[in-house]
Amino acid sequence: MGFSEAQEELVLRSWKAMKPDSESIALKFFLRIFEIAPAAKPMFPFLRDAGEDAPLESHPKLKAHALTVFVMACESATQLRKTGDVKVREATLRRLGATHVRAGVADAHFEVVKTALLDTIEGAVPEMWTPEMKAAWEEAYDQLAAAIKEEMKFAA
Ligand code: HEM
Repeated sequence: MGFSEAQEELVLRSWKAMKPDSESIALKFFLRIFEIAPAAKPMFPFLRDAGEDAPLESHPKLKAHALTVFVMACESATQLRKTGDVKVREATLRRLGATHVRAGVADAHFEVVKTALLDTIEGAVPEMWTPEMKAAWEEAYDQLAAAIKEEMKFAA
């Protein structure tokens, strides 16, 4: 099943609408992750070190991770449309595999992050949100997550 130009357009259009506000949207994305799965919090070393009650808003690394997931999912959409495959640079992918294995990330976490991502986009651009837009983001994210998970097998 290919990824169509219309699907790429849905991902990129919504991302463009979110971009001016991407910092606060990225933050909401992570707050949603920890709402769904509070147990994921201690995976992030900088949160662990900061202590239980430290405000999440003050962690630039957390925002950076959230933005990366958004941007890489957009890139994934473009690559899927052009080539039918996600091509994260090999060195980058290898590092991502190692980082996530080291952090103890499991398949279930990728599902949580996906749900949080979709919830966040729906909340950020409710007037644009449609089942088609949801499906396009889902596919882009799933393919990216699959590429990382595959690399995690080698890094384990
Ligand atoms: C680190 C991307 C999913 C937890 C990173 C880094 C990137 C990244 C680029 C920076 C380190 C590096 O480059 O090796 C992504 C993408 C994801 C994803 C694109 C989904 C498609 C997840 C999930 C979790 C997670 C599901 C767990 C809830 C972490 C943790 C770190 C990390 C704990 C290390 C943070 C640190 O030590 O600074 N991720 N990630 N990631 N990610 Fe992800």
